[in-house]
Amino acid sequence: MSQPTPYEQMGGAPFFTTLVHRFYEGVGADPALRPMYPDADLEPAEIRLRMFLEQYWGGPTTYSDERGHPRLRMRHHPYVIDVAARDRWLTHMGAALDHAIAVHGLDPGMEQELRAYLVTAADAMVNTAAG
Ligand code: HEM
Repeated sequence: MSQPTPYEQMGGAPFFTTLVHRFYEGVGADPALRPMYPDADLEPAEIRLRMFLEQYWGGPTTYSDERGHPRLRMRHHPYVIDVAARDRWLTHMGAALDHAIAVHGLDPGMEQELRAYLVTAADAMVNTAAG
């Protein structure tokens, strides 16, 4: 028997679907972040982020099957991401995570790992000094 992946321990597809859907509801309603997203429809972006996070935590590798190597910093290069944008992103992600946990539950150790990862990853995406 193999060990469950973090993806499975976090609740698999339903957990990530709730998390990322709620996150993009927040982004869609945020006048500072929404204009950064190039497409009128946020759903394709929602699917890309969900696939990426599922893959990162040991779930299906659909992200790389469809998009290739993540190269996330490079893929964010076209967007001006300063610390304010990072903070907005993390605010929406934090609220989305609260919601996903309320709906699906989450082991506290997993929660800690996931929150720490999101902060580190968001820091790494900053590519522009403020002001
Ligand atoms: C720090 C603030 C961040 C901002 C402002 C930001 C903004 C954006 C924007 C504008 C896009 C293009 C939307 C699209 O896919 O069409 C995008 C794509 C994406 N972002 Fe972020 N992002 C941030 C952080 C992150 C973090 C921390 C992660 C991962 C943990 C992430 C993962 C992704 C992924 C997977 C895509 C799709 C890449 C692709 O396959 O093309 N982003 N982001």
